[in-house]
Amino acid sequence: MEQFIINGDTPLFGEIKISGAKNAALPILTASLLADGPVTISNVPHLHDVTTIMTLLAKMGLEFTVDEQMNIEIDPNTINDFTAPYELVKTMRASILVLGPLLARHGEACVSLPGGCAIGSRPVDLHIEGMKALGADITVDNGYIHASVKGRLHGATINLEKITVTGTENLMMAATLAKGTTVLKNAAKEPEVIDLANFLNTLGADIRGAGTHTITIHGVDRLTGGQYRVLPDRIEAGTYLAAAALTRGRVKVKGIGPDLMDSILCKLADTGAHISSNCGWVELDMQGNRPKAVDINTAPYPAFPTDMQAQFVALNALAEGTSTVIENVFENRFMHIQEMQRMGANIKLEGNTAICTGVDSLNGAPVMATDLRASAGLVIASLMAKGETVVDRIYHIDRGYECIEEKLSMLGAKIQRINNKNIKS
Ligand code: EPZ
Repeated sequence: MEQFIINGDTPLFGEIKISGAKNAALPILTASLLADGPVTISNVPHLHDVTTIMTLLAKMGLEFTVDEQMNIEIDPNTINDFTAPYELVKTMRASILVLGPLLARHGEACVSLPGGCAIGSRPVDLHIEGMKALGADITVDNGYIHASVKGRLHGATINLEKITVTGTENLMMAATLAKGTTVLKNAAKEPEVIDLANFLNTLGADIRGAGTHTITIHGVDRLTGGQYRVLPDRIEAGTYLAAAALTRGRVKVKGIGPDLMDSILCKLADTGAHISSNCGWVELDMQGNRPKAVDINTAPYPAFPTDMQAQFVALNALAEGTSTVIENVFENRFMHIQEMQRMGANIKLEGNTAICTGVDSLNGAPVMATDLRASAGLVIASLMAKGETVVDRIYHIDRGYECIEEKLSMLGAKIQRINNKNIKS
């Protein structure tokens, strides 16, 4: 089992390049199933989740060529299997994103229910109800979604009961080849939804309103092949900027502009950070000062993202003052807190609210990562802890952060990855 050994109390200084967005690359890769010719996707991050989705598509028969810059060319016409098996779906829930494209392009799909995960029950009822509204016959048994449609899907107006990012993406993909017009109401507005819509429109789809709560998709007969470059990862960028604030340093993230991160940058400015930017970079300078505590309330875009919650709990744990962090999206997304308490953090949990009282310093300790963003929170907390922190189960972090120890080392962090085969953890 691999672990990170981190020696803390070092401010971060320097600049790093931000990778392509995981949560845009995953739906864009599955959307290639809709095309009737090869697609080339660039700026794909080299992450475990990307490897998983490519393994799934390859199992379905799709052929890939990948170059050293992770530009991926996919030929969707070699497909010979419409099943997404449990052993792959259980490791990466976003595999559910093959459901819409398979139904739209091939009229059938057999996709394992993703099941819950560490941060919540993560139901997919809205995906299923939406596909039925588009004309799919769906039964769920033995842990699998069996979906089919005779002929083509048909357009529908779908009022989404909750704002769901992958639910919006799945239904938008399914609707591109449906007969007639589909209107998705209460749709997610995340930048990754817009990126998927832009990709699909380059293939000949007719999608309007992505980035608003009402997305209209006029079905077309076919989608051609094409090329597309994935947008930069706003959560990766926010994570490194939060680490800069927490360690009282100065970090410039390149390859991303401020427009994708308004709510994150506003909260970082409230900590007392000096933020400058242009369309191609964002710099945070803490000028050696201790951050001030900031209250956080997570909600769908453009509000403060749940994927940045753990990172700001780490920041508030060391900030000046008391703050509340309210998690409104997932029901169990505070597992990093008990690990941070072992490092000396003063945090009280009351339902979906964490009350953080900043302490002057944390102490290094052995801690365990439980999910992707919790592990990011633990890593950045350990950057300011006195002494050594050992972060276990770092496969969680490899799902969403490309070359994290290299990027942190470039910023001056003392971090190394070790392989502790003999430790059962
Ligand atoms: C996406 O997950 C992201 N994953 C998550 O990022 C992110 O935290 C989440 O959106 C919220 O922004 C990808 O894009 C691959 P949701 P998703 O459907 O789509 C409920 C990360 O760390 N819901 O928007 O699965 C659900 O339980 C990951 O990168 C239903 O009730 O999240 C939750 O309470 C973690 N029924 C809320 O909606 C459904 O059918 C929002 O979930 C679907 C969702």
